[in-house]
Amino acid sequence: MDGKPQSPATADVEALERDLLARLDAAADEAAIEALRVEALGKQGSVSALMKSLGGMSPAERQVMGPRLNGLKDKLGEAIVAKKASLAEAALEARLAAERVDVTLPPQRVRIGAIHPISAVMEEVSAIFGQMGFALEEGPDIETDFHNFTALNFPPRHPARDMHDTFFLQADEKGERKVLRTHTSPVQVRTMLKQKPPIRMVCMGRTFRCDSDATHTPMFHQIEGLVIDETTTMADLKGVLMAFIKAYFEVDSVEVRFRPHHFPFTEPSAEMDVRCDRSVPGQLKIGEGDDWLEILGCGMVHPNVLRHCGLDPERYQGYAFGMGIDRLAMLKYGAPDLRDFFGSDVRWLQHYGFSPYLLPGLAAGLSGGIG
Ligand code: PHE
Repeated sequence: MDGKPQSPATADVEALERDLLARLDAAADEAAIEALRVEALGKQGSVSALMKSLGGMSPAERQVMGPRLNGLKDKLGEAIVAKKASLAEAALEARLAAERVDVTLPPQRVRIGAIHPISAVMEEVSAIFGQMGFALEEGPDIETDFHNFTALNFPPRHPARDMHDTFFLQADEKGERKVLRTHTSPVQVRTMLKQKPPIRMVCMGRTFRCDSDATHTPMFHQIEGLVIDETTTMADLKGVLMAFIKAYFEVDSVEVRFRPHHFPFTEPSAEMDVRCDRSVPGQLKIGEGDDWLEILGCGMVHPNVLRHCGLDPERYQGYAFGMGIDRLAMLKYGAPDLRDFFGSDVRWLQHYGFSPYLLPGLAAGLSGGIG
């Protein structure tokens, strides 16, 4: 080439037009169309190059080729716009077809309500203790200092009261400061005050401590057990708790160990651990393995507590235990963060909640129908 654009033959223009239109027709998506537009009509494009060659033509040639090339440019431009529109329309059609709803179908059964895991665990736990002959007792969330602390042998102004991260209410006109109960143990006191032994009860409910992280929330749930008669011993406590663990975790055997501990209201006091396997991350197996899981606090009811409740410690004795219901739920159903339990996120509830139609019972299986 000598640098001067050569005049294109009419046949070449026709061939180019046919080629461009055929390739446009075959373009499968917007990116392919755009690439073709740049290739033909862009600054360095093939049609643009032909337009530039008009300047070097003779007037007679230009008269023929001018309208011809402008025609090509316009035709291609319009075809590109049309092709883009038809692709967009096809995409919309595909989407409408995919998202089509047949409004003539009968309504789908959508599970909206679900039983909260805490409620489900409470049902399970009361089924187990109910079958072992424990009666269900209740007490208020707002407690007196006497029931929550004093009667349970917490000395006045003893640091143990602060260790409970207590929420104190404002003092009333008599100067009495009520508390949000820091544990379910005040229900022990209420039961002993209203009922003579033999006593065999559990109580469940909300408890409150000023604490919040992945395993603590300011409001949580406990279950408390109390047995008082003239002969009950720590061996009975161990037997009942092992039977409970087996039933709750649905395992055939468990091994437990008691570690000495301190609670003002029991003597001796212990924490109970359960043998478990945590070697596979995210999986907990109860009853086997090399690890121990702390599960509850317990002990023999302190003579001072019996005395505060009007019972003669020379005659009566018994045991008490307490454990976290939320923790039991986390261990069995694998929810990692306790705070989510009380976040009221519907998606969480749908995932961890239980069918309202399947209430746990020992005969039908505890968690068998859950999910
Ligand atoms: N009340 C104790 C706590 O909240 C648990 C407990 C209950 C310990 C009964 C012993 C006996 O930590």
